[in-house]
Amino acid sequence: MLTPLMAQGSEGGNMQDDYVIEQMISAKAIAARIEALSREIETRFAGTEKLVVVGLLRGSFVFIADLVRELQLPVEVDFLEASSYGNAMESSREVRILKDLRGEIAGRDVLVVEDIVDTGHTLRHVINFLGHRDPKRLETIALLDKPSRREVDVRASWTGFEIPDAFVVGYGIDYAQRNRNLPYIGVVRMRS
Ligand code: IMP
Repeated sequence: MLTPLMAQGSEGGNMQDDYVIEQMISAKAIAARIEALSREIETRFAGTEKLVVVGLLRGSFVFIADLVRELQLPVEVDFLEASSYGNAMESSREVRILKDLRGEIAGRDVLVVEDIVDTGHTLRHVINFLGHRDPKRLETIALLDKPSRREVDVRASWTGFEIPDAFVVGYGIDYAQRNRNLPYIGVVRMRS
């Protein structure tokens, strides 16, 4: 049963609250899933000299923070920024790299950390972009997957949760740059 938790659509007294957020995945469920996924990732990368964990800005910043603290592997953290939604709820199909990695990945083990795979354009683009640099292994993890929205045939190596076609926020994920600080994943419901 989904419960409306709070209205977050207002910028203060002048605007009306235009949406509510209903919890979809609790902070506790996310933590348990990250623990389980970390054990699988450790097995996959057992013996690695150092795993380069690449967070896709900005939506993955909370997920990557929890993930690297759970992973019992030597890790290096780097970030990549790809263009995405802007302030709208619609995906742009043209993906651009806005910020490149600081470090080299040639011959190294790499794990790309994405918040959501939606149409799949972003993940596809990032895999191609980094794949050209000849990493030893290139794997991907997405906290959320909306398979019903896919336009490109791409799948993360690991997925936290498959979700239906809904616009979600929280745990690093925004709607118009808001709600990233919610500790859970919630669905945005527009008020009529
Ligand atoms: P894709 O290229 O369509 O797969 O979109 C990937 C990016 O779109 C994600 O990394 C998010 O930044 C953004 N996105 C997709 N779905 C949502 C959502 O429900 N809420 C907020 N951002 C989303």
